[in-house]
Amino acid sequence: MSKITINASNRGERNNPNLHGQFVEFLRSGIYDGIWVGEDSAIPNYEGLRKDIVDALKDINPPLLRWPGGCFADTYHWRDGVGPREQRPKYYNENFGTQQLENNHFGTHEFMRLCELVGAKPWFNINMLSGTVRETREWVEYVNRETATTLAEERATNGHPEPFNVEYWGIGNESWAGGGNYTAEGYANEYRKHTSAMPLFGAGLPWTTPTQELKMIAVGPDGNKPKERVEWTKDFFKELAKYRKPKINGYDLHFYNWNMSDETDKVTEFSKEAWYRVIKGSFELEDVIEEQYTLIQQGLKAMPVEEGAFATPINVDLIVGEWGNWHNIDLTTPSILWQQCTMRDAITTALTLDIFHRNCDKVQMACVAQSVNVLNSLFLTNGNEIVLTPNYYVFKMYEAHKSGHKIDLALETNTLGNVCKEDLKKIYSFASVKDDVVTVNIVNVSADDSEKMTINFGQKVEYISGSVLSSEKMNDYNEFGVEEQVKIKDAVAPEIDGTNIDFEVAKASVTVLQFKLD
Ligand code: AHR
Repeated sequence: MSKITINASNRGERNNPNLHGQFVEFLRSGIYDGIWVGEDSAIPNYEGLRKDIVDALKDINPPLLRWPGGCFADTYHWRDGVGPREQRPKYYNENFGTQQLENNHFGTHEFMRLCELVGAKPWFNINMLSGTVRETREWVEYVNRETATTLAEERATNGHPEPFNVEYWGIGNESWAGGGNYTAEGYANEYRKHTSAMPLFGAGLPWTTPTQELKMIAVGPDGNKPKERVEWTKDFFKELAKYRKPKINGYDLHFYNWNMSDETDKVTEFSKEAWYRVIKGSFELEDVIEEQYTLIQQGLKAMPVEEGAFATPINVDLIVGEWGNWHNIDLTTPSILWQQCTMRDAITTALTLDIFHRNCDKVQMACVAQSVNVLNSLFLTNGNEIVLTPNYYVFKMYEAHKSGHKIDLALETNTLGNVCKEDLKKIYSFASVKDDVVTVNIVNVSADDSEKMTINFGQKVEYISGSVLSSEKMNDYNEFGVEEQVKIKDAVAPEIDGTNIDFEVAKASVTVLQFKLD
């Protein structure tokens, strides 16, 4: 039996809806076929964008989409992706071992249409490797300038007279490796040039009101599992402190839960040991967040303090721009980053969103890597078929937490003993409140046993509704052309006895319950 005690009157930080962001990139079918099929396709589409994907995305209200990469952004020239499609240049996209013809049919306008249709804000990532500072400035001009400059007129000719008002700008991608092999100092210097060349749109002086606010996001710690990788962050902020008025709003850490220690571990066929190992691995992100958040605060404290009317305080949000499970490569799949997603991935997706919500005072934005056909995806496509992965359903169930305030929650549960050589708890839980509705989620990580639960709010509550994602086998997943094995079901209504709420959660499951406070 596990027990949860909730104090709903003690409202903490509000979690930022941007924590539910997503990432789309040109990696095999990550965009082509996965999102973009073209207007003439037999696959139903909205102006070339897959209707099934757009409709399902709309259903989970993604707050944010990051594009065009990732590694791809490091060689992407935005001009190749605007204007008449048949005139756009073609070249090979060789990222991650693929030899793929990139015809640039999905460019700025197509991406922005996707954002408009699903109601997401765009996060553009500029090319700091083969691109120039001028190219960066002109991309911002092209998408955001409201007055009739040549670039704004070109945008209008290409179908969008109104500015797109793109707010978030990623400056480089993983510049410590594939994005240029920079040192932190070298990167800071390039960062300074790209951000200083950005149009101001009236910002920066106390007597002017900007027509647009641009948010600059710097590349975060080196490594895709950056526990105890502190030097880059320290050195980057030390370098930044030498510049007058550095422009920075976010610091983008990437975290992949690699799972490549055991070659026999397949994405859909794995041992219990591997089930627990991968689940355990997802918790490392919480330590990384704590560590990097502290380093950012230390870095900011060491910045020279500006005084006077022109002083602009610097705040840097910690962002997790890419996250997800990265399993062993399977050469029989459509591409090396194409992964099926099982209930194991759903559990780690839930636990990762819990980490973000729990640390919502420290992390403001996050993007799952990726939305479609790449790694920890929410959707898989094959021709005209689509699969909603178990991860998609976790995002759908966790929608209720978006913008909620975290509330005090004490959990008494057993550890699972010696699995994975370290103790893993059986149950994990998080609760938030919006108005007078409390949302509680419970993740049972045991692959074998269900668990009896009691929640006590210390006050009377009314049960509203609940949903459950579970599967009979830990490696169940949703496959093309067959009935879904992992999908949301209604929860059995709990028994309420005074202030005690009793129910049972299935093995290997995610449960979300909602209650109205009296
Ligand atoms: O998401 C796949 C790749 O992983 C991205 O292109 C890159 O940024 C990261 O290394």
